[in-house]
Amino acid sequence: MSTTSDQLLSIKDGYVYYAGKAGAKVPAVKGASFDIAPGEHVAIVGESGSGKTTLALAVAGLLTAAGASCEFGEFVFDGRTIERGKIAPVPYRTPGTSMVFQNAMTSLDPVATIGSQFVDVLRGLSRISRKKARAVAAEWLVSVGLHDTDRILKLRPYELSGGMRQRVMLALALCSEPKLLLADEPTSALDASVSRDVMDLLRSMTERTGASLLIVTHDIDLVRLYVDKVVVMYHGEVVDVCNAGRIEEEAQHPYTLALTRCVPTLDAYNLDRLPTLDETMTAGFRRGEGESKAAMSA
Ligand SMILES: Nc1ncnc2c1ncn2[C@@H]1O[C@H](COP(=O)(O)OP(=O)(O)OP(=O)(O)O)[C@@H](O)[C@H]1O
Ligand SMILES: [Mg+2]
Repeated sequence: MSTTSDQLLSIKDGYVYYAGKAGAKVPAVKGASFDIAPGEHVAIVGESGSGKTTLALAVAGLLTAAGASCEFGEFVFDGRTIERGKIAPVPYRTPGTSMVFQNAMTSLDPVATIGSQFVDVLRGLSRISRKKARAVAAEWLVSVGLHDTDRILKLRPYELSGGMRQRVMLALALCSEPKLLLADEPTSALDASVSRDVMDLLRSMTERTGASLLIVTHDIDLVRLYVDKVVVMYHGEVVDVCNAGRIEEEAQHPYTLALTRCVPTLDAYNLDRLPTLDETMTAGFRRGEGESKAAMSA
């Protein structure tokens, strides 16, 4: 059995609050617990508003919203217990983490060249000359598949395609050589084939550097293909933590099972329509059935 000391990240009973009316603390994440082993690839899935981004930001220590706060029963990263209580709203980046944000277009500085954005990051990490920083940046760009480095370093984000921006974001996040890379829906704005390219890249880069990966996504197919473990969130709670290849077998919560049933498959070709999440959950999904009871009773 694995223990906290085997894990890169171990969080227990994590609560994250945003500021409500009259100073009220409104919980967006309620009692989240899960672990990430060194080199493990983990996905957080769940419906919109379930708290995925909030949890990822709290893990990275990048919760910047005014009045936000978090409290964790336990937060151990890379062998160190990190005090995560009452430190927000001041962001306190968890050392050894990097994040690829939900929207690459708004996360990159729109008026700065790609080269100057790399130079800022790299010179913030170590005392190197601008020239050396640009050379290091060029190496990272090549490693994420962008070979025309002299030209790209001079461009601004709006001059790149969506897929190129996502690669630049990934290179920027990786150049600090994090132990945990967090990626918030890194493929949601991309078409299917570019999404797969970016996911292949995320996987190969983290495998190469030995980093663990925590990816936030809506795409359950992508989860099965690319990660080892899936953390399922529903209404702010972590309702399931399953092996990605055994979601149906290990799921305890009806939402998790419903999520797997809403994906079109070749087996579902003869259904008039796929069951919705609401139908599947309201009717009470029975494990192992080919169709939801809701679909049958509709
Ligand atoms: N800055 C903020 N201030 C106040 N409430 C917020 C803030 N950011 C998020 N929330 C609220 O916290 C809850 C969780 O939001 P979060 O962005 O974490 O969801 P999500 O699962 O990432 O959704 P999506 O899939 O749409 O990105 C939502 O109810 C949201 O309205
Ligand atoms: Mg989100």
